[in-house]
Amino acid sequence: MSLPTAAAKPAAPRVNPLQRIWLREIGMERLWMRPAPAAARPVIVPQVLVSQPVSALDPVPAIVAKDIAPPPAAPAAVDSAAPVAEPVAKTVAPSTRANGRPGIPASILNRTGPPPRPVPKAAEDEVVEAPRLPVAEAVKNANLDELREQVVACTACGLCEGRRHAVFGQGATPTRWLVVGEAPGEQEDRQGHPFVGRSGQLLDAMLAAVGMSRETDVFITNVIKCRPPGNRNPKPEEIAACSPYLMRQIALLKPERILVLGRFAAQTLLGTDATIGSLRGRLHSLKTDEGAEIPVIVSYHPAYLLRSPSEKARAWQDLKLASRGI
Ligand code: URA
Repeated sequence: MSLPTAAAKPAAPRVNPLQRIWLREIGMERLWMRPAPAAARPVIVPQVLVSQPVSALDPVPAIVAKDIAPPPAAPAAVDSAAPVAEPVAKTVAPSTRANGRPGIPASILNRTGPPPRPVPKAAEDEVVEAPRLPVAEAVKNANLDELREQVVACTACGLCEGRRHAVFGQGATPTRWLVVGEAPGEQEDRQGHPFVGRSGQLLDAMLAAVGMSRETDVFITNVIKCRPPGNRNPKPEEIAACSPYLMRQIALLKPERILVLGRFAAQTLLGTDATIGSLRGRLHSLKTDEGAEIPVIVSYHPAYLLRSPSEKARAWQDLKLASRGI
């Protein structure tokens, strides 16, 4: 078998016309199309991807779009913008929690919502509602449409009281990637779709830069399906009430990989308190109840990238990691 060598002429990256338009739109066309110098070009051997440092595998152009990157850099600055190499070590989210669920801590998942409210004794002519199943039970056999209906009608925690819309998620089914954010913001709550505000525009631009879109390859959702008032952090009981929906989405959608955006979503899904800086740049794995192991890539939340554009180069590396064959 002949392995590629560093001296071999690098093949020009293939982009289709749509991707090219996007690359131009976000100011990346020139950088993307220009092959890196031979010496800096990685030899990509898919079988060993997991053990190689990210930046050695895939030197990244500084992202230059107005939306997704710092201003265009001179060629020399392109490489220096790449963060220090971080090893692509694979970690597996714990799969043997007491409740058998991956990632989400038992202390959270075992809870099925706020304590039941005392049920007033019904008057003779009052309509008595059938007792509601805890979310974890109700989702068990639901298909995607049924699950959506359950989310839209959910009253498992107090967030239902202030919402305009519960946001189930949106995207391609079947899907290649599942993108998981934190919770709907104001625009998402108004429109009923995930990531439709400024963060969403950035997310779409980032996905387009690796040839992906929510129309064709990606399903986008959040850990929490209803907007917390004032965009405050979700509370443990809200996470507990909502997590079964996400786990069922994962089971039904069977994504090739999961891209988790932001500290909250990453910590919740992987069941860890580790910082986002230590979680990104490497592969994780989520074991589902069905026994599948899904690669998980952690990256910064687009809202954070809007506030800290200098981190976009790292986010770009995360996307490249996610879009490589794993
Ligand atoms: N931020 C998120 O985490 N999710 C959304 O849907 C919108 C903003």
